[in-house]
Amino acid sequence: MEHLFINIKSLLQVREPGGKILKGGSMSNLPKIDMAFLHIKEDKIIDFGSMSSAPDTITAEVIDCSGKFILPTWVDSHTHLVYSGHREDEFADRIDGLSYEDIAQKGGGILNSAKKLQATSFEKLYAETEVRLKEIMQLGTGAVEIKSGYGLTSDAELKMLKVIKALKDNYTLPIKATFLAAHAVPKEYKDQKGTYVDMVIDTILPRIAKQGLADYIDVFCEKGYFDLEDAERLIKAGQKHNLKVKIHVNQFNSFGGVKLASELGALTVDHLEELTEDDVLALKKGNTIPVALPGCSFFLQIPYTPGRQIIDNNLPLVLASDFNPGSSPSGNMNFIVALACIKMKLTPEEAINAATFNASFALDLQDKVGSITRGKLASFIITKKIPSYRTLPYAFGSNCIESVWISGQLIS
Ligand code: NIG
Ligand code: FE
Repeated sequence: MEHLFINIKSLLQVREPGGKILKGGSMSNLPKIDMAFLHIKEDKIIDFGSMSSAPDTITAEVIDCSGKFILPTWVDSHTHLVYSGHREDEFADRIDGLSYEDIAQKGGGILNSAKKLQATSFEKLYAETEVRLKEIMQLGTGAVEIKSGYGLTSDAELKMLKVIKALKDNYTLPIKATFLAAHAVPKEYKDQKGTYVDMVIDTILPRIAKQGLADYIDVFCEKGYFDLEDAERLIKAGQKHNLKVKIHVNQFNSFGGVKLASELGALTVDHLEELTEDDVLALKKGNTIPVALPGCSFFLQIPYTPGRQIIDNNLPLVLASDFNPGSSPSGNMNFIVALACIKMKLTPEEAINAATFNASFALDLQDKVGSITRGKLASFIITKKIPSYRTLPYAFGSNCIESVWISGQLIS
């Protein structure tokens, strides 16, 4: 099946194959073609260009896009899409004045979600997660990373990763699975954090690796959760099983996690709401990609990742949703892009680059998604008739999306 999109007001994020992640000033450049065509065949982009050179095809279905923009679908490189139930009571508790940490100490937070998840069947968990996946696809997400980490037992972690595997099998959008090996210390291991980490390394990790259920390993490196020593042990153990590393660091405190992750060659460091000069220096020395999650800052009312400072230090930046029941119960990447502009002082061009092209590198998907490039997946957003692409973050509460195509198929 071939489709030819014509009279596109502007085709955004057009790039030749093989580009590198955008750093610093290069993030301001959002390459585009005004009055453009886009030609797709099966699941791939085969050609694009100015309308004056549009092909004279009789085999393609033609779709007129007058007044509309086309841009690649969002790449959401950090989500916790698999969970059961919700945490609306904790939301109300926080409005009453409790902090995220207070709630966790009362047995709420991650342990609350783990209890629910452990009691939920695979089938129900799959169904609950699929609803969220379909929702984010409608909102323009065309590739996604999904973490485990609400299981906290061998069986429950495997159940989560099998849900992710089933979604990978049933959907055409690229999905990457992360084993969030250490997310919270379960009650049964209270005051025995080291023993729990041993159990994860000796029992859960080998099972997951053997079944090929994960692409990445992750750790919540934070005061009251897992320290540098735990993180180092888990990262090295994951690497022995050929898992690349992503890590939750500096959400509430900066104590060396960025340096550790970058020295151990992590692919990404995620959160970074607290970022010191030393952290920035560590990032400049390595190739680890910083990922900001402004939905979490918005929802928990904590500082925003200093994205402006990161870019101004000639580093790359990625934006992701952190979709999860506790700290960011939304996977709306349109809102994430708007928040990055409004709260982190990114320009619309920088924010769109951070949520598409750069984000594809955070998932090793730069050959498949993230830009309008010949040979990449035909995954893109067609906007409504809007005055400018800057309307996307500007009209932050409006739905500017008319339709979403993922791997050559119209999503409905
Ligand atoms: O990325 N901070 C750690 N993990 C999640 C939140 C988990 C939860 O509260 O359920 C995050 O924000
Ligand atoms: Fe997270």
